[in-house]
Amino acid sequence: MNQLRSVGIIGTGKYVPEKILTNSDLEKIVETNDEWIVSRTGIRERHIAAPHEATSDLAYEAALKALESAGMKAEDLELIIIATITPDTSFPSTACILQDKLGAKSAAAFDLSAACSGFVYSLATATSFIKTGMYNNALVIGADTLSRITDYTDRNTCVLFGDGAGAVILGEVPEGRGFQSFDLGAEGAGGTLLKLEAGGSRLPASAQTIEDKKHFIYMNGREVFKFAVRVMGTATERVLSKAGLGKENIDLFVPHQANIRIIQSAMQRLDLPEEKVVVNVDRYANTSAASIPLALVEAAEEGRMKEGDTVLMVGFGGGLTWGASVLIW
Ligand SMILES: CC(C)(COP(=O)(O)OP(=O)(O)OC[C@H]1O[C@@H](n2cnc3c(N)ncnc32)[C@H](O)[C@@H]1OP(=O)(O)O)[C@@H](O)C(=O)NCCC(=O)NCCS
Repeated sequence: MNQLRSVGIIGTGKYVPEKILTNSDLEKIVETNDEWIVSRTGIRERHIAAPHEATSDLAYEAALKALESAGMKAEDLELIIIATITPDTSFPSTACILQDKLGAKSAAAFDLSAACSGFVYSLATATSFIKTGMYNNALVIGADTLSRITDYTDRNTCVLFGDGAGAVILGEVPEGRGFQSFDLGAEGAGGTLLKLEAGGSRLPASAQTIEDKKHFIYMNGREVFKFAVRVMGTATERVLSKAGLGKENIDLFVPHQANIRIIQSAMQRLDLPEEKVVVNVDRYANTSAASIPLALVEAAEEGRMKEGDTVLMVGFGGGLTWGASVLIW
């Protein structure tokens, strides 16, 4: 078996739905205003899926671009992982639906559930498969359609979320490049701070669960904020130390795009200047598992990384979970 190969990103793609929902659009729906949303979150607008678009459709568009950028055919894919908490259906998995749409007949396919940390969890999973020689490549996608589980009468949450998908193709890269370290973690005890209660085996869908609005995201914003600030710092420090690097080695910081204030607190702790940080929360809001890959892919498209740069990704989310990774581009 081909052991411990270097694994990195060999193709990238992204997709956001066409429709844009601005802060002033939201002012017409709930008691809020642009000033509040921008000053508390940094968000100005978000993209919202059309009624006919489901998560696999967003993932499909991003996947086509990633395949093209890698110069690969779908038939060559060996593994597909989709990080999502808004799958098309409970089963079949969104990854299986995508496998069929792409015609990726040789690929194993599964979904991974770790909320906003899902993309980094999926990168770690796919990297391990490729490192050990079990597969030679993988399509890893973060895709979510949070608008489908957002209560647009609740101003505490409806201003925060958007839809999108980011895709990467992983494969073998020259020694010294690619993923250097991962730091994944969970604090299940905090699970009730951010959740969607109904529709599972604990509380199946019923007229009552619909009336009680239990098919929408519930969030304790203040507690999640504290958790986020804490783990963004600790996970970053741990993943750097696992890679034998320090914060001065970071060339590009790609944080989960939930709230500009959370990103700024990480920048302060790590002494990072603005030019080393990717921020697009203003245009996409929090797209859950799609957030980090959308930021990473956009930065790649803008030419912000050059060969050999140290890229640090870090995210947090429901579970509660976190995930961080150091990648040499
Ligand atoms: C949600 C969040 C933006 C709220 O910001 P905040 O500064 O903590 O605001 P607070 O919760 O203290 O609320 C302040 C006031 O604004 C109000 N408010 C909430 N949403 C509002 C909105 N959209 N427009 C206007 N006012 C709003 C609240 O009702 C509250 O009013 P009150 O004091 O009269 O009760 C912030 O807590 C946050 O970003 N948390 C983390 C969320 C996150 O990252 N989630 C995703 C995890 S992956």
